Amino acid sequence: MHLPQQLSDVAALTGRRLAALLDAQIQLGTPERLVAAMRHAVLTGGKRFRPFLLIQSAGLFGVSPEQSVDAAAAIECVHCYSLVHDDLPSMDNDKLRRGQPTVWAAYDEWTAILVGDALQTLAFEILSSPATHQDGAVRSALISALAKASGAAGMVGGQALDLEAERLHGSGRCDADHIANLQAMKTGRLIKSACEMGAILGGAGAIERAALADYGDALGLAFQISDDLLDAEGGTETVGKATGKDAAAGKATLVGLLGASAARAALDRTVTQAVSCLAPFGGSAAPLIEAAQFMGRRTS
Ligand code: IPE
Ligand code: IPE
Ligand code: MG
Ligand code: MG
Ligand code: MG
Repeated sequence: MHLPQQLSDVAALTGRRLAALLDAQIQLGTPERLVAAMRHAVLTGGKRFRPFLLIQSAGLFGVSPEQSVDAAAAIECVHCYSLVHDDLPSMDNDKLRRGQPTVWAAYDEWTAILVGDALQTLAFEILSSPATHQDGAVRSALISALAKASGAAGMVGGQALDLEAERLHGSGRCDADHIANLQAMKTGRLIKSACEMGAILGGAGAIERAALADYGDALGLAFQISDDLLDAEGGTETVGKATGKDAAAGKATLVGLLGASAARAALDRTVTQAVSCLAPFGGSAAPLIEAAQFMGRRTS
């Protein structure tokens, strides 16, 4: 089976699980309008790339997609929350996401803030449930991995550096190392944690877990470089969000610092590096190898 089919299978499985988890919110007494806005944030498209990485990483150790889908749903909740807040007027001020109005544009700003808050806590509620894994120690390790990756020293910190560069320091003063660190934090850490959470679910040994973490590090960097190239070169129709905004906003990106062709060369090198990290897994890592190669040529 090839990557597009595998990605769409994971997207369908994860989407069904997320829809069921959001349905359950109504029974729990969550206000209907808030649930509707959460559905808008979570169920209107998205590649489900982090769920794919988690499910494929766990699969290396014999864990089935059905056994890893709850953890996959949890990381997707954090990712969707990060997008809802990233699009707010006070952050990137975007009105289009996944080909639809952003949550704040479809509802309002306070609802979008609350949707992000609610999705973040829902992620950890999912991970704390025995349905995610019967062993409390495994659940605790998953919670710790996701909390560290998404918190102040991870994604949130990266978003702070992104906006500090844009608003406080002037992105022109950022060198390539600063940009790499900012991007590793804002995007890479969550992508890396998807791979690590798969390893945790699979009971991986230290060497295998480190190999997946290194793969996730390289892939995370590749992911953001390709996102920045899509912003510079892609069309809104295919990308599903406004493009050409990073340069206009003065975002600190490798594309802005080095130009598109040098950024593409860096992307290709990073993809090669990601693939090399999977050597210990041999042929069983084929879907993860394809996922890295997909970064070099994706159009959305
Ligand atoms: C976009 O992430 C935000 C970044 C971290 C660059 P994705 O490209 O994974 O967005 P969806 O989930 O497919 O919409
Ligand atoms: C966002 O990076 C990373 C997040 C943590 C959400 P971008 O701001 O480049 O993502 P897009 O381009 O809006 O999806
Ligand atoms: Mg942003
Ligand atoms: Mg943005
Ligand atoms: Mg972007």
